[in-house]
Amino acid sequence: WLPYTDEWGNKFDDGETYDLIYPEVTIPEDAFYVPLQAKGKDIPYSDLRVRLESTIGIYGTGLLDAISDEDLRAQYQTEEKHGANLNPTVWKDGDFARYYTNTKQGDGTKYLPRYTYGLTRGSIQDGPGANAIWNITNVTRSDRRYHYMTPAYAQVASEDPEVQAKFYTYYPEWRKSGDVKKDIYDYLTSSELPADMTDEEYIDFMVWHRGLAVPSARDADSKEFQQGKKLFEEMGCATCHRPTWTTGDDQIRDPNNFFVGARASLLPRYPHQKIWPYTDMIQHQLQMKNNIRTGWCRTTPLWGRGLSMKATGASDRLHDCRARTVIEAIMWHGAKNSDARQSIEKFRKLSKEERKAVVTFIESI
Ligand code: HEC
Repeated sequence: WLPYTDEWGNKFDDGETYDLIYPEVTIPEDAFYVPLQAKGKDIPYSDLRVRLESTIGIYGTGLLDAISDEDLRAQYQTEEKHGANLNPTVWKDGDFARYYTNTKQGDGTKYLPRYTYGLTRGSIQDGPGANAIWNITNVTRSDRRYHYMTPAYAQVASEDPEVQAKFYTYYPEWRKSGDVKKDIYDYLTSSELPADMTDEEYIDFMVWHRGLAVPSARDADSKEFQQGKKLFEEMGCATCHRPTWTTGDDQIRDPNNFFVGARASLLPRYPHQKIWPYTDMIQHQLQMKNNIRTGWCRTTPLWGRGLSMKATGASDRLHDCRARTVIEAIMWHGAKNSDARQSIEKFRKLSKEERKAVVTFIESI
């Protein structure tokens, strides 16, 4: 973690100071198990750059799934109309430039980008949770009887003496040919593995995932909260951190084709609810040092995040947890060419007491 000094010397005009740090990550070349590749091509170690990305809470993602496509599209249209800087790979000339599709398990239907900082996922039924339970843990299920795996990885693992020594102990049922190298390779690349997770377990997981509630806002009637809320709107924070949406019909849609027919009706739905996520669901560029990969980051929903200290003992914020407090998170918006520059100039003009009200408001929502 390296120290960072912004153009104001990490100081407000009234003398109050703050610290900023950012991560610089390197991974030694010999720590890589498999030769570095991108899109199937070897890449030299000297071309490697590492960026951190932490996950954010998955509560409330069911409610965000219930926002209608029309309303999401309208938000892009509004921002485009107001001349906002929009990621041309996501939205260009009045329409979406990319969608989320799943042709492997689904029929290639196009879903609007909604989830992850990179807007790489569509409906929650094939969103970060439904995918991560499989591709981060390699937990197989009836509709995915294969690992998240590359042939290059399977090759290296199959030749690794340590893997060879233990393979049949872990997977006795895979003593297929007796050639341990071949058996390891076939196991890792198989598409007919037993399902680690039953359908019932996967359904339960998605009921929980869709349904995980958002904590209610605290002290919303207090004077300080109300003052912070007003300032948040006046400074333009709310243009990106859009306070409220009303959900649509919330028909269950699954790019994987798992939650269809009778199964779709097992999942909870949240039609026509007024929700308060404080996000426009759109990416912006804050231009911070060692910024997120691609430089585009979806506006993080602010709901519930203020309980992080209580729930986890830490209140880290931003995509790589570089901000340890709300003030630090705000000041990382302040680069000269940041899309949020104007709101930070306004924030800097606030009195100490007003800044505190903004922080209290953000911690309370
Ligand atoms: C141009 C759009 C934009 C504006 C204006 C904006 N933000 Fe943000 N905000 C973002 C984006 C994008 C992120 C996520 C950045 C990241 O993690 O790299 C973010 C993240 C945050 C976070 C951290 C969220 C978390 O828990 O990780 C806070 C707090 C925050 N903004 C508060 C504010 C406040 C207060 C203002 C007004 C002074 C403001 N923002 C103005 C786009 C904006």
